[in-house]
Amino acid sequence: MSVLEKDIAKILITREDLQRRIAELGDTISRDYEGKDLLLVCVLKGGVLFLSDLIRAIGIPHEIDFMAISSYGGERIESSGVVRILMDLNKNINNRNVLIVEDIIDTGHTLSYMTQNLQTRNPASLKICTLLNKPSRREVNVHVDYVGFDIPNEFVVGYGLDFNELYRNLPFIGVLKPEMYIHASDETST
Ligand code: IMP
Ligand code: MG
Repeated sequence: MSVLEKDIAKILITREDLQRRIAELGDTISRDYEGKDLLLVCVLKGGVLFLSDLIRAIGIPHEIDFMAISSYGGERIESSGVVRILMDLNKNINNRNVLIVEDIIDTGHTLSYMTQNLQTRNPASLKICTLLNKPSRREVNVHVDYVGFDIPNEFVVGYGLDFNELYRNLPFIGVLKPEMYIHASDETST
C-alpha cells in the first residue's frame, strides 16, 4: 500500500470501473457529436485525469482547452459558493460545440457560474460531462448532460480529485478518512 493509500477509508470506484464507464461515455459522445465541430473544455485541476482518458475514448476529431475556476479554498472541504475564473480559455468559443469536462458536481455553484459565463460567448451548443455527481448536495440547479457515476455524500479523492492539493494521483476514487481533514483544519486554526 502506498503512503497516500493508507489515508483512504474505502475505495468507492475502482480503476477498472472508471475505465469501463469512460469508454462508454467516449462512445456516446462520439456518436452525439459526429460530424460536428467539438471543443472539450476541461476544468482544472481536478478534471485533467478524466479528460486525458476521455479524449482517448472519443473517436471523432475534437480540440481541447482549459479553464481554471476556484470555489474551494485551500484546506476547506465545503464550497464557499463564491466562484471566480483563475485562468480563462485560450480559444474563442463563438459558434462552436462546447462540452465542459468536470471532475465532480457537488453544490453546483461552479458549473452554474461556468455555464452562465460561457453562454454569453455564444457557443453553438454548451453541454456538461462530469465524471462524478453528488445529487444530494445540490444547492443550485444545473442541467448535466453526461454523468459517469452518481455518488453518495462523502468527500472523495483520487483520479484528479484532491484534498488540499494531494491524492490526485491515486488511480481510483476513494473516500478520505475523516481524521485526515479534521487534523488539517486543527493545524490551520492554530
Ligand atoms: P461545486 O461548486 O460545489 O459543485 O463544487 C465543484 C468543485 O468542488 C469540484 O470541481 C471539485 O474541485 C470540488 N469538490 C467537490 N466535492 C469534492 C470531493 O468530494 N472531493 C474533492 N473535491 C470536491
Ligand atoms: Mg478541487
